[in-house]
Amino acid sequence: MRVFRTIAEFRAWRRSLGGGLGLVPTMGYLHDGHLSLVRAARGADACVVVSIFVNPAQFGPDEDLGRYPRDEVRDLALLESERVDAVFAPSLEEMYRHGYSTYVQVEGLTARLEGASRPTHFRGVTTVVAKLLHIVQPRRAYFGRKDAQQLAVIRRMVRDLDIDVEIVGLPIVREPDGLALSSRNVYLEGDDRRAALVLSRALALAGRMLDDGVREAGAIRARMEELIRAEPRATIDYASVADAETLDELERIDRPALVSLAVRIGPTRLIDNAVLDPA
Ligand code: PAJ
Repeated sequence: MRVFRTIAEFRAWRRSLGGGLGLVPTMGYLHDGHLSLVRAARGADACVVVSIFVNPAQFGPDEDLGRYPRDEVRDLALLESERVDAVFAPSLEEMYRHGYSTYVQVEGLTARLEGASRPTHFRGVTTVVAKLLHIVQPRRAYFGRKDAQQLAVIRRMVRDLDIDVEIVGLPIVREPDGLALSSRNVYLEGDDRRAALVLSRALALAGRMLDDGVREAGAIRARMEELIRAEPRATIDYASVADAETLDELERIDRPALVSLAVRIGPTRLIDNAVLDPA
């Protein structure tokens, strides 16, 4: 497995390749969610590249950039055992050179949900993903539905900018008790780990209500909020039932709905979601 620190070295290697390349962009501190993307790429693409870059542009000023978990030695060992061909792990200075001043911004879709709570987040995500797609030139790029809005925003960027890549979205990987895997789960200490189950429980409740014939989105939102409020360690940032394509809030679930949650458990902000299809 090759490890590249600079764009020039990566490009020199890239030029020597034939065949299709799959890219899995990450911020490292890898878990089975990330590895599920790597395995999908390994099954579909002749050559698999994983990027590891904790992207400062997507963190707000009061967010966890400074303490975002990192363990590159462990990450590289995991990727080696998944038979990844190359890792692109550039430095901050390599990606954002002195005087950096160009950003990619998807409008509309980014105003809601995560974008409403984290106003500069998606501009940072689309900027770095656009750079990674330009540098790596993959045929396919893999993303998790864990970050459903991120996936929608990236699909829109790729469509609008005519970037020649297939975006592949893959299911959320969970712990046996339902907690969605996340690098940020390492922040959950003591009772916070148990309290974090309110997210997946609220989503399961929404699913049961739909199965029972409830179509009124407001009723589902209210019951999810009630369940989460019963957990004293939890504070709701948002509980949304939205059109899965446009992310507009729904009144009635008459088409596939993205049910998404952002909840603070003590100091840790967690997100989770499920797509409910009334059909
Ligand atoms: P990161 O949080 O490291 O996630 C990298 C990829 O792994 C994303 O596509 C994310 O949706 C996926 N992922 C995370 N947890 C998952 C889970 N439990 N199941 C399935 N997939 C999961 O998302 C980012 O990094 C960054 O925003 C990035 C796209 C790399 C741009 O900086």
